[in-house]
Amino acid sequence: MSSLVVRNIGQLLTLRGPARPRVGGEMSELGILTDAAMLISDGVIVSVGKDGQVEADGATEVDAEGGVVSPGFVDAHTHPVFGGTRVDEYELRAQGASYVEISQAGGGIMSTVRATRAASEDELFRQSRRYADWFLKGGTTTVEAKSGYGLTLEDELKILRVIHRLNAECPLDYIATFLGAHSIPTEFRDEPSEYVDMVIHQMIPKVWPTGLAEWCDVFCESIAFDLRTTERIMMAAKEAGFGLRMHVDQLSNEGGAALAARLGATTADHLERTDASGIAALADAGVQPVLLPASVYALGLDHYPDARGMISAGLAVVLATDFNPGSSPTTSMPAVLSLACTHLKMSPAEAMTACTVNAAYSLHRGDQLGALTPGKQADFVIWGVEDYREIPYFFGVNHVRSVWKEGRSVVSGSPGLRV
Ligand code: NIG
Ligand code: FE
Repeated sequence: MSSLVVRNIGQLLTLRGPARPRVGGEMSELGILTDAAMLISDGVIVSVGKDGQVEADGATEVDAEGGVVSPGFVDAHTHPVFGGTRVDEYELRAQGASYVEISQAGGGIMSTVRATRAASEDELFRQSRRYADWFLKGGTTTVEAKSGYGLTLEDELKILRVIHRLNAECPLDYIATFLGAHSIPTEFRDEPSEYVDMVIHQMIPKVWPTGLAEWCDVFCESIAFDLRTTERIMMAAKEAGFGLRMHVDQLSNEGGAALAARLGATTADHLERTDASGIAALADAGVQPVLLPASVYALGLDHYPDARGMISAGLAVVLATDFNPGSSPTTSMPAVLSLACTHLKMSPAEAMTACTVNAAYSLHRGDQLGALTPGKQADFVIWGVEDYREIPYFFGVNHVRSVWKEGRSVVSGSPGLRV
């Protein structure tokens, strides 16, 4: 049995609380222990408490040097496997072109689809492995990972196999989502319904039995899949056995939130354009909103989702990066925390809750991940700050000192508090 004790923790963010996602005022309660210690055995937390009171005979000692210790981030919305980059489009947008214009001119998601189809499984693995290191270095220990840049059965399965291999070979944990309905591929532009039929009748029934994806997602938007089509795809996915997550109301309010509520989706993601009636529908159905402020920022837009309205309505808000090569090229959850505080007017505590315990529940992992209490998996970050609010406040600086996955060090050597 291998034991580890982390001592001299200035603030231990335990996120203790009820065994469910946190809502309303609960989102502000981080369960902070000061001058704390945490004992871990075989990758699982055994006890947390005041430093002097945690007994740890024979355990290896780690000194947190008075810094903050938080749960590893759970990033509940990413697109981390793709060929190439879209750095050219980034430059075009800097010159004034919009995301929709670029997409209508054949770029956007389709340009990544072309590069992803052309890449071998090994190439995709190597490229994505590099991003896995970025996630870990930013304090993220689990990601939800979508396919969606293949748009043929074979290319979608290729991406899902890469996600499976990443999960097996790197310390970062991946939870896979099938996103065959990410875009209508160019070859189906004249007959989009044929692609939809293919997703429903060929892809969904063949992907589910592979066990390579546990969730299914659709990009519901006028430039992608309309409401009626989204509903058909999601119904087929639900029947096959998938859990449902949905991209809705990102660029326009098409009633996507109400649809997510009607379908009983687990999450509705983006929601930049969702109004009060959409928020009320999500609240009635208990759907968790996944907010992605980095994609608003990176597209140079200014219409952020109404996080305050959602928290007031009792929704268990989640924050995620949306890491992808087009609208959100960042793996950094600290950057998302900063955007959430500055633009969504969430408090640092609410933002922390949104990307740890609430994110874990949105992936049905709330019993294992997202909190530092006895029985939880020991996925945690030691930060080079004494006050957790400094993580979003001193933005653009990586404050991560070390990252630990199931009690094992996976990132180390970054500067500490004392210089
Ligand atoms: O979540 N909205 C759709 N999908 C991504 C964008 C993907 C891309 O541009 O490659 C998103 O923002
Ligand atoms: Fe996305």
